[in-house]
Amino acid sequence: MCGIVGYIGHREAWPIVLKGLKRLEYRGYDSAGISLINDHGLNIYKKVGKVQELENFSAGKNLSGTIGMGHTRWATHGIPSDRNSHPHTSNDGRLTIIHNGIIENYAVLKEELASRGHVFNSDTDTEVLIHLIEEIYKKENVDLLEAVRLALHQVSGAYAIVVMDEEQPNELIVARKGSPLVIGVGTGEYFIASDATPIIEYTKNVIYLNDNEIALVKRDELVIKRLDNVVQTPYIQELELKLEMLEKGGYEHFMLKEIFEQTRSIRDCLRGRIYANEGRVQLGGIKEYADKLKNIDRIIIVACGTSWHAGLVGEYLIEEYARIPVEVEYASEFRYRNPIITEKDIVIAISQSGETADTMAAIQMAKERGATIFGVCNVVGASIPRLTHAGVYTHAGPEIGVASTKAFTAQVTVLTLMAFYMAQQKGTLTQAKLVELLTELDHIPEKIEKALESNALIEKIAHKFKDSRNCLFLGRGSGFPVALEGALKLKEISYIHAEGYPAAEMKHGPIALIDEEMPVVVIATKNSSYEKVISNIQEVKARKGIVLAIVTEGDTEVRSMVDYCIEIPDASEAFLPLLATIPLQLLAYHIALLRGCNVDQPRNLAKSVTVE
Ligand code: G6P
Repeated sequence: MCGIVGYIGHREAWPIVLKGLKRLEYRGYDSAGISLINDHGLNIYKKVGKVQELENFSAGKNLSGTIGMGHTRWATHGIPSDRNSHPHTSNDGRLTIIHNGIIENYAVLKEELASRGHVFNSDTDTEVLIHLIEEIYKKENVDLLEAVRLALHQVSGAYAIVVMDEEQPNELIVARKGSPLVIGVGTGEYFIASDATPIIEYTKNVIYLNDNEIALVKRDELVIKRLDNVVQTPYIQELELKLEMLEKGGYEHFMLKEIFEQTRSIRDCLRGRIYANEGRVQLGGIKEYADKLKNIDRIIIVACGTSWHAGLVGEYLIEEYARIPVEVEYASEFRYRNPIITEKDIVIAISQSGETADTMAAIQMAKERGATIFGVCNVVGASIPRLTHAGVYTHAGPEIGVASTKAFTAQVTVLTLMAFYMAQQKGTLTQAKLVELLTELDHIPEKIEKALESNALIEKIAHKFKDSRNCLFLGRGSGFPVALEGALKLKEISYIHAEGYPAAEMKHGPIALIDEEMPVVVIATKNSSYEKVISNIQEVKARKGIVLAIVTEGDTEVRSMVDYCIEIPDASEAFLPLLATIPLQLLAYHIALLRGCNVDQPRNLAKSVTVE
């Protein structure tokens, strides 16, 4: 987590860095800070809280300078406070650093540096690194690039850093290992950021720095080296991102915009990948592995958070249609077990950001043990797509609301496509069945649009639930991961305690919580478990629970027994997760809004989790 931005060129750095930080705020918003070099030397402004606090605090101050850098923090080492905010400085105050990641051996380094007279002003790991750089810079009598390079040899952990020297106002040093860093290439200027969003307004040409690379960035010169001192040829890529994708486009919140974008994002995800009349799925990113898929014994899905829920939907789909056994694992648990992985396994890593540290570590481990790794990522060019052997992008476009919405449905769409693709390779579905399923899938965006029409009704229902302290979400089959996702959405943005449960498991515990104040959201669409779910609803009603059911349009049976109903269009079971998720996203959104919560930036969370 944490977002970093840097600029060196001919324009004023402050507005570029400040705006960039606002774009990166999804990465953390515990504090923000900017340093600039101008005729008065080095100026550092930092403030606990959102970037807006920093902007208010700095108004009227000396903000000129054509070289600068900034940081938005998600606290790890040290509480959110002004003193723990980045940028941090060297002992003599001449060097400054911003950092995304964790220096794992900071405690040992700190002790050693302190014994040599260094005095620290924060509780952060980052401050230790800049003191180390300072010591090498002075002792070894080398230039700043070399000092940073040598210092990085002494640290373990993850980092994307930018370093500035008050006495070298014509250069920035940047480096990365494990945390993302993009360099935007302008004319006589360079932009640095954790992702391309702060850069897109100024240039489409970018270089993604690789792990273990360090760069000297001057106004008209860029030198990239590996940490072992071998000079690299920069590879400039053109961004496909458009500026309007990063704006709210008339919506009150990014989350609402992203919920309503799902008609488009799912269509984009399907584009060029299904040939419904022929009953054929084409996934260019994994086609090299078509033969391997024919004989595969097992698939392991690794992911975190919402992406893990998408993985659970994937398990249902792949097992149902391609008849391949699937295991779905939290990346953070998988990596610390000693899992049995063989060369025959395919591991599918799902990640919106493509940067999640635990997912990356799980991939590394599976790769070392010989598995083939597929990625399902949203952010093009992120670290995970570069670590995997093959993959399928979700093409949902930038997701800025911290709570994932359109990325989830795009992940489920890709997994649906993968399940059908695997079925096609293995011959587990007839051509006629594939034609039928793909024809229906092709029309899912229209059904999503229909599901979104319940927005006004959901807003009304939200008024009834807004003061609840707990909420239970129940589902069976592929409705279970939908229930988990609905509960996660509600708890992360409204701070109401919510739990997702397999409906049949309710009687083994959660039923004890049910009383006349307990809302229970039930996925009760017409599918194979419909009758069983009705029994579960009866069990809740018998204990005076308040039931909100997500039902198939036209349903009268469930409607007659519950308190509130939201309809979704009828669809085959394969597509229910896509449709049933929509009302749950809207429900969480409206409840959070009514409770006065910050929907796009819920407390303590960050969108890109680059720490373990
Ligand atoms: C964070 C985000 C979630 C996301 C999870 C995994 O917790 O807030 O929305 O699902 O990380 O992130 P990834 O980028 O790997 O999908």
